[in-house]
This record gives sequence, structure tokens and C-alpha cells, in this order.
Amino acid sequence: MKHLLTLHDLTTEEINQILDLAKKLKSDLKNGVVNEPLKGKTLGMIFSKSSTRTRVSFEVGMGQLGGRALFLSSNDIQLGRGESIYDTANVLSRYLDGIMIRTYAQSDVEDLAKYGSIPIINGLTDLVHPCQILADFQTIEEYKGKRSGLKIAYVGDGNNIAHSLLYGSAKLGVDISVASPENYTCNEEVVANAKDDAKKTGAEIILTNDPKEAVKGADVVITDTWCSMGQDAEKQERIKAFQGFQVDKKLFGLAKDDAIFMHCLPAYRGYEVAEDIIDGPMSVIFDEAENRLHAQKAVMQLLMSE
Ligand code: CP
Ligand code: NVA
Repeated sequence: MKHLLTLHDLTTEEINQILDLAKKLKSDLKNGVVNEPLKGKTLGMIFSKSSTRTRVSFEVGMGQLGGRALFLSSNDIQLGRGESIYDTANVLSRYLDGIMIRTYAQSDVEDLAKYGSIPIINGLTDLVHPCQILADFQTIEEYKGKRSGLKIAYVGDGNNIAHSLLYGSAKLGVDISVASPENYTCNEEVVANAKDDAKKTGAEIILTNDPKEAVKGADVVITDTWCSMGQDAEKQERIKAFQGFQVDKKLFGLAKDDAIFMHCLPAYRGYEVAEDIIDGPMSVIFDEAENRLHAQKAVMQLLMSE
């Protein structure tokens, strides 16, 4: 493993290795065990979009591993004024030991990895959000006692979260049903890749326009904003298109009795999820947010330590 660009690029073993280490790092932190495998190392964090969790968890995580993190807003670095990815990748590779990047085009992240000589971690693109889904599987295991042989239902936009969930589920052998409105379904190439991986692990992948069908019998119900970063101009149109896709009591009631609710956050109560679900006893959103820290520390340790 040289980079984390998408979960599709990793093997099942590599994903399991990250999740095993994340679990250990979490318990070490809670037990006060200090281990600094990234002492003296620096992570650059390029952000072309806003962030609360990703920014803070990477920065804190890097500190806990003994290294430090530099926040690089694309508004402030020359990349935002048109300097090429080629030059940026080459220059930053001379100073840094790794880069986390949050941006729009997946191809920019791939190019950074292609032209640079240090590990690149995808901190969200329009296409995927692999760090989030690693934290999600860590959370699922904490609540369900296993990371395969489960059914996930994702209700909502066929976006970066849906795509990484498809990739992660396919690799780990988790059944997944994704329900999205017509015109907001998942990227076809992502679906084809995930179906290909699923053949090897036995995961069942179902795409539907019916939220009820997706949620029926699920162990985990996940949703995300109807309007991702960069789509603000489409907000009203999207709210209309997603009517009937809110995770509310009635819909959640179709899942298993002990089902959990997850959301990567930020959440918009009253839109993609009802308040009594996201703030109810079945919601594990803050454990999920916490696990970003542990999962990403595992990724950084595996990619950046000697
Ligand atoms: N879930 C997530 O990536 O949150 P941020 O946008 O706050 O980083
Ligand atoms: N789908 C959302 C996820 C935010 C963490 C977005 O891209 O804005």
C-alpha cells in the first residue's frame, strides 16, 4: 500500500490491516500508551473544500503519532492560482512526508500520487471519501462485533459516501443496498468495480430507487446530505428530488430491531434524516466521528512510518 486514493485500490487484507491497527491505536490511546512512529515527520493537508472532522482529526492524529501537520488552504497556496499539480507534487515531495488532500476532482488526487514521491491520502473528492468509510467500518465492528456478514442500507444521494461504501462493502464481504432517486444514482464505473470485487467476497450489491426495499432487514442504516459541497446552486432542486428519502422512524423501523444509524456529518436534520433518528438511541454518529481519528492514524502509520 503506497497511497490511499480509493478503497477499490486496496486489497481486502490491506483494509483489514488498517482496521486492526485502528482498533489497537484506539485502545492504546484510551490506556495512555504513547507510541510515536511518525516522530519528525510532516503531513501537508491541502483543502480546497471546508472541513471540521477531517482537518481536526488528521492534525490531532499526526500529533499523537509524534509528527506534525500543516494546514494548506488551496486559497493560500499557489495551486489555487493555477500552479500545476505536477509542480506542486514535485515541490511538496521535497519538504513533506505525506499529503492529505480534499478537493473536487479525483483525477487531481491521482495526479498528485503519480507525480509526487510521497504517500497521498484522499481526504474526500466528489467521487469518494475512503477515510470516512474506514472509520464507518471500525464503528460498525464496535457495535455489531464483526466487519463482514452484515447488511448495510444507504439511503440518499449516489455520492462520494455511497461510492466508498460500495467499495468498502464489496472488499469486506458486506451486503449493501443503495437507494437513490432516479438521476441521483451512483457512478456506473464505481458500481461495476464494486460488483467485480463483490464476486470475490460474496457481498451482495443492490441498487434501487426504493428506500423501503433497501432498509428492510438492514443491520446498519446510513445516509448523507442531499447537497454535497460544490452543489449549493442545486439545493432547491435536490430537496424536491429527494422527497421520500428521509430516514425517519417509519423507514428506520423496517431495519432490524437492533439496527444502528450512521451519518458522516455534517447532517441536516429534517432533510436527509429526522431528528428523532439522528438524536435517538440507535444513532452512533459521534463514535463514528471519533473513529476518523483512529482509522486515519492507522492509515498514516502504515503509509508514512519507516
Ligand atoms: N465527515 C467529514 O468528512 O466531515 P468534514 O467535512 O467536517 O471533514
Ligand atoms: N457528501 C458530502 C460529505 C461531507 C463529508 C460532501 O461531499 O459534501
